[in-house]
This record gives sequence, structure tokens and C-alpha cells, in this order.
Amino acid sequence: MEKILDQLSREMGKAFEAAGYEAELGRVTLSNRPDLCEYQCNGAMAGAKRYKKAPLMIAKDVAEKLADSQVFQEAEAVAPGFLNLKISGSFLLNMVRSMIEEPKFGLEMPKKPKKIIIDYGGANVAKALHVGHLRPAIIGESIKRICRYGGNECIGDVHLGDWGMPIGLVITEIQERQPGLVYFDENYQGEYPKESPVTIAQLGEIYPYASERSKSDPEYKARAMEATHKFQKGVRGYRALWRHIMDVSIPDLKHNYDSINVEFDLWKGESDVNDLIPEMVDYMKAGGYAHISEGALVVDVKEDTDTKEIPPCMILKSDGAVLYNTTDLATIMERMRLYAPDEMIYITDKRQELYFEQVFRCARKTKLVKPDTVLRFLGHGTINGTDGKPFKTRDGGVMHLERLVQETKDEMFKKIREGKSREGREVSEKEAWEIAEVVAVSALKYGDLSNQASKDYIFDMDKFTSSEGDTGPYILYTVVRIKSILNKYREQGGSLEGLALLEAESDAEKALEMVLVQFHAMIQGAIAEIAPHKVCAFVYDLANAFNRFYHETKILSEENQAKKQSWLALLMLVRDVMETCTDLLGFEVPEKM
Ligand code: ARG
Repeated sequence: MEKILDQLSREMGKAFEAAGYEAELGRVTLSNRPDLCEYQCNGAMAGAKRYKKAPLMIAKDVAEKLADSQVFQEAEAVAPGFLNLKISGSFLLNMVRSMIEEPKFGLEMPKKPKKIIIDYGGANVAKALHVGHLRPAIIGESIKRICRYGGNECIGDVHLGDWGMPIGLVITEIQERQPGLVYFDENYQGEYPKESPVTIAQLGEIYPYASERSKSDPEYKARAMEATHKFQKGVRGYRALWRHIMDVSIPDLKHNYDSINVEFDLWKGESDVNDLIPEMVDYMKAGGYAHISEGALVVDVKEDTDTKEIPPCMILKSDGAVLYNTTDLATIMERMRLYAPDEMIYITDKRQELYFEQVFRCARKTKLVKPDTVLRFLGHGTINGTDGKPFKTRDGGVMHLERLVQETKDEMFKKIREGKSREGREVSEKEAWEIAEVVAVSALKYGDLSNQASKDYIFDMDKFTSSEGDTGPYILYTVVRIKSILNKYREQGGSLEGLALLEAESDAEKALEMVLVQFHAMIQGAIAEIAPHKVCAFVYDLANAFNRFYHETKILSEENQAKKQSWLALLMLVRDVMETCTDLLGFEVPEKM
């Protein structure tokens, strides 16, 4: 279905033309004075110069041509030359009807769908997920769902950090604690034990300890670097330990991501491209792209138009060690071979922006990608505490993701219990927990996604879990309210099949429909700008418009059956659109609340 503003603009363009002006002046926008009109057109102002005519005159000419328009119920020329517009109820009705009938509410599918790899999450093996991992996971998951809904083929890749120093640190500390393990015996030829020498709980403690110690103990750090080198090179015992750490760590990561509805199509990581690196390095040397600088192998990526210094992209360190860049470039090479995507989107902390600029330039210059392969970086801001500083636990420590999710659930549980007792309704502990589990995810995710990704935001537990205001729980309450009206109607013996939608009568009903028909433009905007916050803003507007309608309308007690059924049809559409939005944001709606 064509976007509403495009339809309105076409109609307006015809009127401009009929009045002897250029059609392109007829661009219609949402009104910025909703108290005066629903939509507006400022084309007469722009045309004044061209036609050497007072804008009000032009606007009047055009308004005349719209006198019996099927699309606009009212088109009024007002000083100094605006066209204030109201759309006709029957035109709106047709649009809303098509939304009910057509798949995906009539969203137009791309003629050439894109294949997009979305690189998000970015967990590091051997390290617990902490609050810093929340944003790339939540934002990436939503972007994947939005682009997929828009008709593209999307592949989500967690791109694990599984090939670096953290693993070397963990191995070093394991050796400290259990020096007799066979993994460290160079002469050992036999098979290694199937069972890992460390559990996930131990890993959770070992990494922070080893990382701290390496900061003050250079000899220990040197050993960790050596261990890193060894497992990367494939020294048997070290590689076996690396495998154990992976096997212990990955199920835990999966469990954590799962708890916030984040799911990846690919669980690949830096390690997967290790075997490609020699080939890539040869290719870059043979192509004359890479050269040695102070012992290291680098590719220059600065450009004449740069206003800031862009350092060369380092491919290998002077000791031959592999870097973050190396694995990222090799991953691009692998992705092009295996999937040949049209686009790759990376979501990480915005502090990695310069890094990705280097990597992208290097990939282009060395022709690892095709000239038309789109490489996009979306850098997200920091989560701060209510004190405005990076979010920490109450005692100032690193906030683990698991704990944050649990604290949100606890808070949600408390609020649900309190809310019910205020309403004088009993809810069992078990039921309250079940609801809290689902709603907490919405609180966390909506709290994050409703902010523009690149901005920092304040994690405010009380606000995020509130059932009022621009929050996840408010959205869910609204959908659950709609569901319960529909259920009640069914319990009273009504059927929800084949209900006919009639033209909106009240202002509130029309306003609700006017929000609904913005769906298509909203989705297309969210895809073009990879911006989940647009989905939040839309679903919040929709919830508000629905609640206003609901408070003004006695739906189930309406005597006129046709009217009542039309409202129920509208409710079903609002429910479906809202549930689609919550799904795009990555959370579910509970049956009851
Ligand atoms: N593991 C990385 C980190 O913790 C994030 C990975 C992002 N993706 C990528 N292809 N580099 O910073």
C-alpha cells in the first residue's frame, strides 16, 4: 500500500496542476498545529516566488480545486498561504480496511530484497556478559527483526570475541591454580579429558581476577600473552583448553541472551577465520595494498578529504600476532564468500567508530568487498545510572547482565503485586512471577530502544518498570486491555469473524485511525535509518490514541450492533499492529497482566 503522505501528496499535486501550478508543490505533511488541522501543505509559500503571486492567492486557487475531493474533507487556505487539511473519513476507512485485509498491513515489499548480515551482541568468551553488552544485543536484535519484516533476508551473527587475550589470561590463571594439568605437559601425546577443568562459576571468578592481576604484574601479563599466542598457533594442550573454555562459556551466553529474547542465526566468532588469515595476508601483500611499517604489516587508509587523522589499519603486529582488525577483515572475506551479502551492519559501542572506519576503508581499498557492498556502523551510547555516571551495581561494581535482568524482574514482581492489591484483586505468587518475567523484558528493552541508539541514556528502574508513561509495561498494558475487551465479547457469545469496519465517527476514533495509517512510513523510516526508536515512538502514539478512544467510548455496552462490531474490528487491528511492533522490538505480550 502506498504511504499515506504519498497518497495525499498525489491528490494535492493534482489540485496544484489543475489550478495551473506545478504538481511537485503539493507535498503534504502531518500538521504541526493538530489543533487546527490534521495535515498541511506549504507548497503555495514555495510557489510564490516562482509564480510572482501572493501565496494566499495560490493556496486559494488550489483549495477551490479540492472542493469536491474524495480524499480531503476540508482544504482551507489560511494566511499567509498555508493549506490546512482534514482528510475524509471514507478515504481513511479505505486505507484502514486495506490494512486489515492485506498481509503485513499492506506494507510494500522491496522489489529487490537485500541480504543483510547484522553483527551484534559481540560477547566475549570467558567473560560474563555485563551491562555494556545489553545495548548491542537489544538494538541489533530489533534491527534484525525490523529489516526482516521489511522483506529483507537478514542473518544475525554474534561474532564472539573468542580469540584474544582474555582467553590467554584465563589459561594462565588455570595453570597457576592447577599446574599439574596434562594440558601444560608438552610431552603429552594422548587424548585430553572430555571434562573441562573449570566450571562456568569458576570462570566467572577467574577472568576478573586474572585481568586485575595482569595490570600490576608484568611477568604474569607476559605469560598471558604467551598463552594467547600458543592457543592461537594451535599448541595442542592450549587449544584443548581453549575448546573447554568455549564449551563452558557458550551455553551460558546463550542462556543469557535467551533471557532477553535475543537469538542469533550464527554463533561464529573471531576464531572461525583463523585459517583464512594467512591467505588474506598473502592477498593483501600480493595486491600491493599492505606494507611493513615499523615491523608491523599495515594498510594505509587515510584519504585526502580527511579532516582528522585516520591511522593505518594494522593487519599483523611486528611479532606476527593477530589483532582485532585481522579477524574482522578475515571475517568480511569469509562472509563475502559464504553469503555474498549486499550489506553488513555492525552494532557496537560508539567508541569503536574510528576502528570500524579503518576496517571499512581497508576492506574497500583491498577489494575484500564489492564496490556496492554497503558497510554500516551503528555506534550506541552508554547506559548511565541515575547519578549520570556509567551504570554500576549499588556497591560500585560491574553490573552483570544476569543480575540486571533479575533485578528488573524482582522490581516488576513487586509492582504487579502492589498494583493488584490496590485494585483489590488477588494474584498468586506464581502468576505474578510469570507475568513479571515477560513484562520485565519489555521494561528493559523498551527503556533502551526508545532512546536513539547513539545517545547515552539513564537506566531508571522505577521509570522503566512503571505502567504509565513512555514505557514497555505501558505498551503491554494497552495491548492486554484490548485483548481483554475482545475476550469479554467472545465470552458474551460474540464472534470476531468477519466484522465490518465503518467510517470513524468521533474525533478520537479518527485520530486513532490516523496513527494506524502511519505504520508503513514508520517501518520504512526505521529500516532506512536503522532506527528502532521510531517503532517505539509509533507504538507509544498508537497506545495513547487507543487509550483516548477507549476512555471516550463505551464499546461493549453499545446498543447499535454494527457500530459495536466496527469498533471491535478496529480493536483487532490495533492489537495486531501493536503486537507486530512489540515483536519488532523483541518482547512479547502476556495474556494477562
Ligand atoms: N567483542 C567485541 C567487543 O567486546 C565486539 C565485537 C563487535 N563485532 C565485530 N565484528 N568486531 O568489543
